[in-house]
Amino acid sequence: MELLLGNENLRQRADFTYKYNVKTGRHGWLRLTPAYSLKIVEDLIVAKPKAKRILDPFCGTATTSLSAAYHAREGVTIDINPFLVWLGQSKTARYSKDDIKSTNNAYSGVMDLVKSGDIEPCPLPALHNIERWWHRKELDFLRLLKAAIYKTTKEPSIERTLLMIAFCRTLMKLSNAAFNHQSMSFKDGGQIRMNLEVDFAGIFSEDVQFVMSGASQNPSGEGKVLLGDSRNVVGVVDGKFDLIITSPPYANRMSYIRELRPYMYWLDFLSNGRDAGELDWLTIGGTWGIATSKLTEWERPAEQFRSKQLVEVLDKISHADNKNGGVLSKYVAKYFDDMWAHFRGLLPVLDSHAEIHYIVGNSTFYGTLVSTELLYAEMLKELGFTNIVCSPIRKRNSKKELVEFDVVAHWR
Ligand SMILES: C[S@@+](CC[C@H](N)C(=O)[O-])C[C@H]1O[C@@H](n2cnc3c(N)ncnc32)[C@H](O)[C@@H]1O
Repeated sequence: MELLLGNENLRQRADFTYKYNVKTGRHGWLRLTPAYSLKIVEDLIVAKPKAKRILDPFCGTATTSLSAAYHAREGVTIDINPFLVWLGQSKTARYSKDDIKSTNNAYSGVMDLVKSGDIEPCPLPALHNIERWWHRKELDFLRLLKAAIYKTTKEPSIERTLLMIAFCRTLMKLSNAAFNHQSMSFKDGGQIRMNLEVDFAGIFSEDVQFVMSGASQNPSGEGKVLLGDSRNVVGVVDGKFDLIITSPPYANRMSYIRELRPYMYWLDFLSNGRDAGELDWLTIGGTWGIATSKLTEWERPAEQFRSKQLVEVLDKISHADNKNGGVLSKYVAKYFDDMWAHFRGLLPVLDSHAEIHYIVGNSTFYGTLVSTELLYAEMLKELGFTNIVCSPIRKRNSKKELVEFDVVAHWR
């Protein structure tokens, strides 16, 4: 299965998002939460039966929180992206039989409206180059479908949420990247359609069934998904935690806002490129659109992470034989200053003897290796954590120096 909302049901644990390179015209799927990290999260939770309150300060698609809830714990998680918070809340929520029934009724109402054609399509989302994602017929159907869901359901309501999750799945299946759907194959580049007769309504119907089957499998524990900034954890969560499991952003210039923008525009979380860039600037590790130009003006704060190791890395990157060396050196500095703020802010919410796991990859910039795991270890040591270990988990790709680690440490 190829969609953000996963391969089993609403509660699935493997998340994919859409990746489209406008320059090369290549499409593909990017795994937000690869299967191996799902397994790690699950194993860590099972191995710690005494950990009752588990925090993930970088929610993403709510894997940790959902996993905690399924193991009858309390899983609390934070994200700065309101779309991911909405998604996480809907994944971790409990749905009653009445909720399922009323959503099925709402679905019938939506389909009646779509088939009658007696409804004004919603405006086209202001996503740049939208016609490269969807062909005209698909766009027309999606606009009609969204208008019908909005007309049939209230905001906020469970019916609206569940149908919009199914809508997310459908919009990805109807995109030019949907190479897995039998009746919709496209040649590389996304332009040549092999079969024009696609049953759009049938696809949405399948997606609604899929989401509903997941919605009916309620977790026994509680999953809480909160909107907030992990550089100020204490301002977002209540109480203390005995286990932290997270996969934070990596220092690799991947922008979650960029990757998620098709969903965010269709679901009205974004309406223009400027806001997208502003939100990216707020995220740790973001450098997309306006975020990159802001970086050129940015100076390291007084409360920066002071490290000889980091200074050497920044110096090498800024003197690389490349015109972007200066700005990328700032990018790396900001990433570690932000993570430093995060770790310092985490201390007040840690129970004594809390254990933390940060699953993170290293990166390279113009041949300079940025050993994120070692820099995390240095920060944690300075803050007073003990038994700090960086265990390699896997190689990230064919480049042999790119590795993912589980950085483990214990609070005193
Ligand atoms: C690598 S992803 C997390 C993946 C997640 N552990 C999972 O399993 O799906 C990093 C997440 O951190 C979020 N993020 C970035 N900066 C943040 C901040 N300052 N506060 C809270 N969340 C932030 C991003 O929006 C993104 O969802």
